[in-house]
Amino acid sequence: MYVPEKKVTNDDLSRSLDTSDEWIRDRSGISERRIVSEGQANSDLSVKAIENALRGKKVDPKELDLIIVATVTPDMMFPSTACIVQEKIGAKNAWSFDLSGACSGFLYAMATGAQFVQTGMHKKVLVVGTDVMSSILNFEDRTTCVLFGDGAGAILLEPTQEEDIGILDFMLHSDGAGGKFLYMPAGGSLHPATHETVDKKMHYVHQDGRNVFKFAVRRITEVCTDILERNGYTSDDVTLYVPHQANIRIIKSSLERLGLAPEKVVINIDRYANTTAGTIPIGLTEAHEQGRIKKGDLVLLASFGAGFTWGSVLIRWGEF
Ligand code: ACO
Repeated sequence: MYVPEKKVTNDDLSRSLDTSDEWIRDRSGISERRIVSEGQANSDLSVKAIENALRGKKVDPKELDLIIVATVTPDMMFPSTACIVQEKIGAKNAWSFDLSGACSGFLYAMATGAQFVQTGMHKKVLVVGTDVMSSILNFEDRTTCVLFGDGAGAILLEPTQEEDIGILDFMLHSDGAGGKFLYMPAGGSLHPATHETVDKKMHYVHQDGRNVFKFAVRRITEVCTDILERNGYTSDDVTLYVPHQANIRIIKSSLERLGLAPEKVVINIDRYANTTAGTIPIGLTEAHEQGRIKKGDLVLLASFGAGFTWGSVLIRWGEF
């Protein structure tokens, strides 16, 4: 994982915005977030996360077969950030593409990458979840700008010969009817950039927070219940739950509804806010570094985001 050095606290934001540390912490669970420095782009965060992921592992970037970067804030519309990353790390033999799944982007990308490993087509697939949300936030809109931060996480998918180790199952969903609740209106072919789109602040995140909240709680609970049931498990079997970090109240509500013990959940929204495609690989990395996952543990990942998109991945943790 990698998060930018620059910390922005709630108090920092409340100096230029009609908000307060108390409101933001109470309503979202966020205390601070990391924000890129000028000139620092998505690919820079991705490369640092990849370097951290591969540190100590004997993997030459030339061995990589595929790089998938999940993001809604690429360096530019094209070429893909994955191609930029490929060049920066010297992964000459990989093919690369970006995947747009918003907050579920990382789980979409993980499941996609896993297919190439499972079929035997590829041996090394790098999956990155990165977003520079600060590049599309209106820092005059207190209803959105306080909620997000910048950050990246990366994982390497490889084949295993061990029975029942690795990605056991995934369930992914989308419902385009939810698009109107969370989107960035301009910058694509519908509303290409003009002076008018800029004046109307159409290049920023627009969100109906209450509706997103409602659907997030319901869908995350549903998909986690479904994936556990389909694999013959209950919440008691789960060792670690790594949910998307959008709001502490969404996380706690899903915990209660799933009947999961509070000590099983990964929470870091207080320090990083919502890093969109970055939250799950960042959470997974921190949990691993803190010694919270050991071989054989059942790890449940869950996400909900713009689209709407949502999903869950179930992992039996292997050696690392
Ligand atoms: N500071 C102070 N007051 C605020 C702020 C703020 N930063 N933001 C909103 N308020 C005010 C509102 O204006 C409103 O005032 P009013 O009653 O006078 O109109 C009041 O606080 C309550 O607003 P609500 O929207 O009802 O607040 P709520 O408790 O629902 O919390 C929030 C809002 C945090 C946005 C919540 O709805 C939420 O987390 N929604 C889900 C967000 C989410 O999951 N997003 C997913 C993004 S993922 C992706 O794919 C990018």
